[in-house]
Amino acid sequence: MNILLIGSGGRECAFAWKLSQSEKCTNLFIAPGNAGTANYGKNVNINPNDFEAVKALALKEQVDLLVVGPEEPLVLGIHDFFANDEAVAHIPVIGPKKEGAILEGSKDFSKQFMERHNIPTAKSKSFTNETLQEGLAYLANHATPIVLKADGLAAGKGVLIIDNNKEAQDELQLMLGGKFGNAGSTVIVEEFLTGIELSVFVLSDGKDYVILPEAKDYKRIGQGDTGLNTGGMGSVSPVPFANAEFLNKIEERIIKPTVNGLASEGIDYTGFIFFGLIKVGEEPYVIEYNARMGDPETESVLLRIENDLVELFLATANKQLGNYEIKISPKNAATVVIVAGGYPGEYEKGKAISGLENIRDSYAFHAGTALEGGIVKTNGGRVLAISSVKDTQFEALQCATADAARIYFDGKYFREDIGFDLI
Ligand code: AMP
Ligand code: GLY
Repeated sequence: MNILLIGSGGRECAFAWKLSQSEKCTNLFIAPGNAGTANYGKNVNINPNDFEAVKALALKEQVDLLVVGPEEPLVLGIHDFFANDEAVAHIPVIGPKKEGAILEGSKDFSKQFMERHNIPTAKSKSFTNETLQEGLAYLANHATPIVLKADGLAAGKGVLIIDNNKEAQDELQLMLGGKFGNAGSTVIVEEFLTGIELSVFVLSDGKDYVILPEAKDYKRIGQGDTGLNTGGMGSVSPVPFANAEFLNKIEERIIKPTVNGLASEGIDYTGFIFFGLIKVGEEPYVIEYNARMGDPETESVLLRIENDLVELFLATANKQLGNYEIKISPKNAATVVIVAGGYPGEYEKGKAISGLENIRDSYAFHAGTALEGGIVKTNGGRVLAISSVKDTQFEALQCATADAARIYFDGKYFREDIGFDLI
């Protein structure tokens, strides 16, 4: 089969690594990919949001399967575009249509969806410019901290946690005034939940689902989980505090009602559902849905999936997940992300990367890298995801952290404490 994978991050590099291992994979194309994905297939430099270009590539290379990594093309309707175009309608797409991707594309929709299906989540209320005065009054008496969320996609920056009522009122005005563009034209005011977060993933074929290994990601830039939020500085899988009883609660109270709820609303969801969860006491709550896999969770999760990924995707596309047996390794995976100096603020690109050949026992999944004149250079904030899989979590963490130290580029930074809080 010829497979086209959309995206250019660490998640896609891990997907490319795993897809390329399948005997069913004849040719793998990655659009646009990075210096790492080029090790597993052919990069094609097109913009994933240019659906005409994606279609032209799919036709030219006789693609049999389209796998969409990031959320943006999904929210913009890449699956709908393929389904509605006769020339490419036969190509199955892993990733939901617009009507499903809205779970991530609109937090207001997802909160209402959870309410309709009785799925545990923080209490909330939405406001727009028309209801600004009501929103200000609501905020005046709200318990602190207060969580404010822009409804739409805001590149991971649309969630603010504010300690003071007056500041929250000012922020609501700024958000509704266009601070996040259209994404903030509806703002959700949410109760703050105190607990520990984890990520749970399923692959859904629209009626059945398989549960993938759970993971925990580390969002803050600084050691000890301090400083600014990032796209993710590392991950571990499994998650020690997610025991069988807790995972069972997640399946019964969150996964089943979500998959059944989508089906009952006529949404044919073919793709990943990422449940961003928080454990409050012993109870799971949904913080957010994403319509894709997590990054850097994927890098750890895929190291524990023993199935052929192409077979898993075909079972998804053919709505055969009900009979599919997912095989998960009992081993422990850990990922440490190496970022560019300054990230998540301003940072420079184009720094030569050395030491990749010195890695001993980890995978180096590339995130923000590019090949320039045969040299691997930095090309983003999150540069490399160093992942290791071992019998114990301690060994996996030690190995990934030690291998991350073997890589060098000007301004390089990584957290040395990923996962160690859990053991
Ligand atoms: P999101 O973009 O929805 O994942 O939110 C970003 C981060 O904000 C989450 O990973 C949480 O750490 C935090 N967060 C979001 N909503 C809440 C909430 N209701 N209570 C506590 N923390 C939250
Ligand atoms: N690691 C969190 C995310 O992918 O959104």
